[in-house]
Amino acid sequence: MRTAVLVSGRGSNMQALVADARDPTHPADIALVASNDPSAEGLKWAKQNGIAVAGVDHRIHASREDFERALHLTLGLHRIEFICLAGFMRLLTPWFVNQWSGRIINIHPALLPSYRGLQTHARALADGVKIHGCTVHYVVPAMDEGPIIAQAAVPVLDADTPTTLGARVLAQEHLLYPHALRLVAGGGLRIEGNRTLGARGARDTDDLVVPPL
Ligand code: GAR
Repeated sequence: MRTAVLVSGRGSNMQALVADARDPTHPADIALVASNDPSAEGLKWAKQNGIAVAGVDHRIHASREDFERALHLTLGLHRIEFICLAGFMRLLTPWFVNQWSGRIINIHPALLPSYRGLQTHARALADGVKIHGCTVHYVVPAMDEGPIIAQAAVPVLDADTPTTLGARVLAQEHLLYPHALRLVAGGGLRIEGNRTLGARGARDTDDLVVPPL
């Protein structure tokens, strides 16, 4: 399955996906890393690591639709079949999402449906939650909605700042996203309403957070 990873910045999740997909038995082939920012760190890393890259600069397109048409064309030129959004910070229109319906997934740094949007770690701290985490989900036109594929949880500690909590979540993202891509690319998942069924979307219950007594 020829897969593109879309990034806007450093691309650490993209690197985790690439590392896992190097396994010859992996069902996905990361054939392209694309960005709306031609100077994105993630693009440099991908190029240095021998992966095809494309910078589709959103700033030189007159409208969101024009930008997306250019991006869609680029994906077609590379014969892309599947998209992983990995820190891609542009909202996608229903037109683009519908072109890729069922073939586009995203990682979000919170346990959806809590904390859609930005600054998820600061908001989780402000709310005093004890468990936070990350989610991989299918992309639908509504932002940060769509059937959940997999989630991972982390504890929130007393001394946490948004930075320390974000780092703990990011470490889980790097495990969760490759796991989710394997589930999706391997087939066998099915979507019923807003649920993704057919595989376990969390790691063993032993890994879930249980506060010590
Ligand atoms: C990740 O934490 C990802 O979950 C988040 O941006 C970061 C990108 O880091 N995505 C979003 O907030 C999407 N709304 P990375 O470039 O190192 O993978």
